[in-house]
Amino acid sequence: TNNRTPLVAGNWKMNGSRSLVETFSHSLNAQSFEGLDVVVCPPDGYLSMFNNEHFSLGAQDVSHLDNGAHTGDMSTDMLKELGAKYVIVGHSERREDHNETNLLVAKKAAKAKQAGLIPIICVGESLSVREAGDVKSFVGEQIAALFAEMTSDTLNDAVIAYEPIWAIGTGKTATPEQAQEVHAFIRKTLTEHDEALAHRTRILYGGSVKPDNAKALFGQPDIDGGLIGGASLKTDDFMAICQAAI
Ligand code: G3P
Repeated sequence: TNNRTPLVAGNWKMNGSRSLVETFSHSLNAQSFEGLDVVVCPPDGYLSMFNNEHFSLGAQDVSHLDNGAHTGDMSTDMLKELGAKYVIVGHSERREDHNETNLLVAKKAAKAKQAGLIPIICVGESLSVREAGDVKSFVGEQIAALFAEMTSDTLNDAVIAYEPIWAIGTGKTATPEQAQEVHAFIRKTLTEHDEALAHRTRILYGGSVKPDNAKALFGQPDIDGGLIGGASLKTDDFMAICQAAI
């Protein structure tokens, strides 16, 4: 047992519409999620259109820089003004599409924390890394990079999401045992820096979480909830996954 409040976050990625925002505002507010933190991360432009009483909002990325001449970027200040409380950083799709490095991801996480946003920091290996048996060294490096920019004090309250790339959008989920093994490894890595931090930090699993596999994943001792892609676009599925975390 632990006293970490489970968290389920929906990452809409580049999906959604004004009408989906309305559907979610309506359905999620009609539900009670006691003992669970629920976060919806739509594209930035939709943030302020939500009417959210029972859940929080998050963004999908943020600049590591202050307001200024940085075309196309969004600052922590802007996200906060739009209602975001959380922000995803280092999603594998951003690492891939925008060449985000471990260092940049750490800078974004540090910037978010400094501004009072809760970063959801994504890590996870590709299929080739897994097949080569290098999962722990790869994920270990992604975690180590955070400590180059942040101390265990500044990492306090940050959330980590383990998303094996081969399980994202593929319908291929890591088994609860495979996921637990990496989650336990991440927590152990945190312990080496700060034991209290390791106990406190919520580590989410992401990668084809669906209503029918959520319960087994969330039941693992080091899995504190999920980061949901495809299934977060359907209110019924998303709510069923939330229920599985309570
Ligand atoms: O950030 C969540 C994500 O990458 C998982 O996506 O569609 O496999 O649930 P999906």
